[in-house]
Amino acid sequence: MTAPREGRTVPYHVPWLDERELEAVRAALGGRVAGDGPIGRRVEQRLADSLQAHRVLLTTSCTHAMELALLALGIGPGQEVVCPSFTFVSTANAVLRVGARPVFADIEDETLGLDVEDVARRITSRTAAIMPVHYASVAPDMDRLLELARDRDLRVVEDAAQALGSRWRGRALGTLGDAGCFSFHESKNVTCGEGGALALVDPDLAHRAEIIREKGTNRAAFLRGEVDKYTWVAEGSSYVLSDVLAAILEAQLDKAPEIDARRAAVVARYRSGLADWADRVGVRLPPELPDRQTNHHIFHLLYPDGASRDAALGALRERGVMASFHYIPLHSAPQGQAIGAGEVSLPVTDRVAATLLRLPLHARLSDTDVDYVIEAVRETGGRR
Ligand SMILES: Cc1ncc(COP(=O)(O)O)c(C=O)c1O
Repeated sequence: MTAPREGRTVPYHVPWLDERELEAVRAALGGRVAGDGPIGRRVEQRLADSLQAHRVLLTTSCTHAMELALLALGIGPGQEVVCPSFTFVSTANAVLRVGARPVFADIEDETLGLDVEDVARRITSRTAAIMPVHYASVAPDMDRLLELARDRDLRVVEDAAQALGSRWRGRALGTLGDAGCFSFHESKNVTCGEGGALALVDPDLAHRAEIIREKGTNRAAFLRGEVDKYTWVAEGSSYVLSDVLAAILEAQLDKAPEIDARRAAVVARYRSGLADWADRVGVRLPPELPDRQTNHHIFHLLYPDGASRDAALGALRERGVMASFHYIPLHSAPQGQAIGAGEVSLPVTDRVAATLLRLPLHARLSDTDVDYVIEAVRETGGRR
């Protein structure tokens, strides 16, 4: 039996913030605190260099980065965007916010990303784009997805919210399609509380996006000294990240190698502590795919059925292990039904959502925490 809980709690995710971020904020407060300032530009360039993107624009969230991408691509009313139902609400919200309609496709059993054949079946004359989600920072079959998009003249906007630092066949996730959107929410590997980024490879698209991000003005060009005053040149909104938050992000990027190393060590410990148990009870661990390099954002278990997953979730929480499910599929959520998506058949999505359990994973977990979680997990399962 696992030792009694004795008030112990292993939290689900904890950001690693310390004196380094405090110092960065202190320094930022001595300068300009609005967006598109010197710190934000530095961070954007750093991200663009590491992603090998033409341009990165910091935004207030990944949700806003996705809205901004769709607006810059001119996607709107009367058009459809194919995306998974197995995702966070933001993917579909961004589509709705620009006036288009999300159309849900099923996911692959292995990567839990979009199933390209099912995407192809859902394309109509109204389809304008595909939005793959890199769940757990693992890409679906991007070669086939990009080929489908090319053949049908569709744009690709990657929801890479979880995927900063992850790769598909050596290429950074978030740079494979027309636009890539990242999150710096507190639950992500690298965080500034709330924040996001839009990565673009096409200079024209980047130009349109920087205008929309700055309330439809050419303020970005003005700050670069390219025009002598700035004015309203297009319809836009306000998606730019304050330099105070950019300063936190910069400190986090400095810390990223330490964060990555610790997360990788936690994942390796989970794998070695759970592999024989998983085999015995018919639970699947996350795939290890040689052509995908992940950032160890999520460690999930797939139980053989919903009842054993639910029982495991309850038992773990009982012991203070803050495990979680993922996700309530969007087509079965109240808003999914309200937009008429309730009846769509997505068998893999439904099965995965009913059987998936996420374990706590963050860089502040000690080996003792991880061993405690492993011991508690090993007492759950379907078959014994
Ligand atoms: C797949 C996915 N998309 C979008 C988001 C939204 O990110 P943000 O909170 O930065 O808007 C998240 C965040 O949890 C996510 O996991």
